Amino acid sequence: MDDHSTPTQPAAASSSSPSPSPSARRLATSSLCAALACCAFVLLLAAAVGRRPPLQPRAAWHHFSNLQAQQQQQKPLSRHDDAAAAHQAPSPAPDVVGGWSFQEEEAGAGAPAPAPSPAEEEGDGECDVYDGEWVVDDAAAAGYYPLYDAAECPFLSDQVACRRNGRPDSGYERWRWRPRGCGARTRLGGAEALEACRDKRLVFVGDSLNRNMWESLACILYAALPDRSRTRIIDDDASQYRIFRAMDYNCSVEFFWSPFLVKLETKLDQTRALKLDQLPNMLQRTLGADVIVFNTGHWWTHTGKLKAWDHLERDGKMVEMAGEEAFNRALRTWARWIDQNVDPSTTRIFFRSVSPEHKSVNWCYNQTHPISNGTIAPWFPKGLVTIVERNIRSMRTPVSYLNITHLSEIRIDAHPSVYTINREGKPLNITQRQQPLTYADCSHWCLPGLPDTWNVLLLDSLMRTTSNVHLQG
Ligand SMILES: *[C@@H]1O[C@H](CO)[C@@H](O)[C@H](O)[C@H]1NC(C)=O
Ligand SMILES: *[C@@H]1O[C@H](CO)[C@@H](O)[C@H](O)[C@H]1NC(C)=O
Ligand SMILES: *[C@@H]1O[C@H](CO)[C@@H](O)[C@H](O)[C@H]1NC(C)=O
Ligand SMILES: *[C@@H]1O[C@H](CO)[C@@H](O)[C@H](O)[C@H]1NC(C)=O
Ligand SMILES: *[C@@H]1O[C@H](CO)[C@@H](O)[C@H](O)[C@H]1NC(C)=O
Repeated sequence: MDDHSTPTQPAAASSSSPSPSPSARRLATSSLCAALACCAFVLLLAAAVGRRPPLQPRAAWHHFSNLQAQQQQQKPLSRHDDAAAAHQAPSPAPDVVGGWSFQEEEAGAGAPAPAPSPAEEEGDGECDVYDGEWVVDDAAAAGYYPLYDAAECPFLSDQVACRRNGRPDSGYERWRWRPRGCGARTRLGGAEALEACRDKRLVFVGDSLNRNMWESLACILYAALPDRSRTRIIDDDASQYRIFRAMDYNCSVEFFWSPFLVKLETKLDQTRALKLDQLPNMLQRTLGADVIVFNTGHWWTHTGKLKAWDHLERDGKMVEMAGEEAFNRALRTWARWIDQNVDPSTTRIFFRSVSPEHKSVNWCYNQTHPISNGTIAPWFPKGLVTIVERNIRSMRTPVSYLNITHLSEIRIDAHPSVYTINREGKPLNITQRQQPLTYADCSHWCLPGLPDTWNVLLLDSLMRTTSNVHLQG
C-alpha cells in the first residue's frame, strides 16, 4: 500500500494485482506443497500481526516458487552475470572490495584508472559516505549503473517499475552517488552484494519505503545470481511480509511491514489504538538475523483521514499527548527492546533516516535531473529527526545510521511520479497521467533507482567493523 499518500494522492495498491506480466505469471507457478506451507505460514503471520489498518489493500500478489531456469537462458549474460561468475570461486575478504579496479569517470576513456591510495580506499576518517555528489555512471562508459534492468527482476512490483509503467526517460537509473574523499569504496554491485549476503539473513522492518529498499536489494541480488532458478520469493497477500532467498548463497532478505515500529491494534469496535509501549509480536521473528534495518517516520506525520490511529495507548489506557512526545515514547520502547533482545555480537542494527518526499515546492512531476542548485524545501519535521538521533545515541547497542536523507533530497527526478499504479493496481492510463495532482507518487522511488544506492551504502557499512560506534554514518 501507499504508506503515506496525501489527500491529493490516492493510496495506490501496493505491489498490486495478480500477475500482470508473463514473468510474474511464471513466478506464480509453484508446487502445491510449497504453496500449502506458505499459506500456513501466512496464516500464522496474519494472526501474529493482527488486523491490518483500513488503508491496507488486500492485494493478491502472492508468489512462492522456484524461478524458472529458462528465464535466464533466453537472455544473454549481462555484465552482472559476468561479475558474479568471476566472483564465484574464492570469496574475497570484505576489505578486498577496494581492490576492484573500477574506472573512475575522471580517468580518460579506456585509460587504466589510477589506483586509489590505500587511505582513500579504506577511508581515513576524512571519508563521509553520505557527503558527496551524484555523477552520471553510464554503462557505455564502463559504468556500473543501473545495477540491474527492471526486466531482470521478475518480482519487481508495478508500483515502482517506472519504465514498465511507461516512463520515457531513463537517466534517473544511471546516477551514481560519489562520496567525497572515499575513493572507490562504494563502487559495489551485485557480485559484492551476493558475497556480503552469503550465509546471512538480512531483515528490513518499517514502512513501504523500507519495502522499496528490500525490493531493490532483492533485485540487485537476483540479477547477479549465476543460477536464478535457485531462488525463492514469498509474499503475503498484502505485502506485509516478504522474503527473498538465494539458495546457492544461503542468503535471505526479508521485509516486515511495521510503519510505526510500535503496535497498531484494531479493537473489536474497529477503533485503532497505537500502543506506545508495545511492539508487534512479529518483531520476535527478526531475532537472530545478522542484519536488521529499521525505519519509521512518515506515518507519524499523517493527519486527517490518513491518520492511521484513533487514539494512543499506554499501560492499556488511552492517553493524550503531542505527536512528538508519542513518537519519542515509541522510539524509547523500540530502543529498549533492542537493548534487551539483540545480541550485538551477532546482529547488526541499522536505522535508515527519513526518505524525503517531493510534493509541494519541489514537486517531483516532470523532473528528469537531480537538483543541482537552489534550495530544497525541507518537509519532514526536524524535531522527529532529532528524537530518532537522540534515542539511538542513548542505546547500549551500537546502531549504524543510514543517513540517506540529504543525498535523496536532491533526487527529485527519482520518484515514480505518474509512472505508477492506481488504486486498482493498474498502471495509470493516459488520462490519469494528465492528472498528476491526483495521481503522482512523489514518495516512493523508481527501481532500478535511488534505493539501490541506499543498499550500496548499507553493504559498504556491513563490510566495515562497528567497534565503539553508537550513532555512526
Ligand atoms: C547526515 O548527513 C547530513 C548531510 O551530510 C549531515 O548534515 C548530518 O549531520 C548527518 N547526520 C548525522 C546524525 O550524522
Ligand atoms: C545459512 O545462513 C544462516 C543465517 O541465515 C546461518 O545461521 C547458517 O549457519 C548458514 N548455513 C550454512 C550451512 O552455512
Ligand atoms: C510536463 O511535461 C509534459 C511533456 O513534456 C508537458 O506537456 C507538460 O506541460 C509538463 N507539465 C508541467 C506542469 O511542466
Ligand atoms: C540552477 O538550475 C537551473 C536548472 O535546474 C538553471 O536554470 C539555473 O540557471 C541554475 N542556477 C544557477 C545559479 O546555477
Ligand atoms: C483511464 O481510467 C479512467 C478510470 O478508470 C477511465 O475513466 C478513463 O476512461 C481511462 N482513460 C483511458 C484513455 O483509457
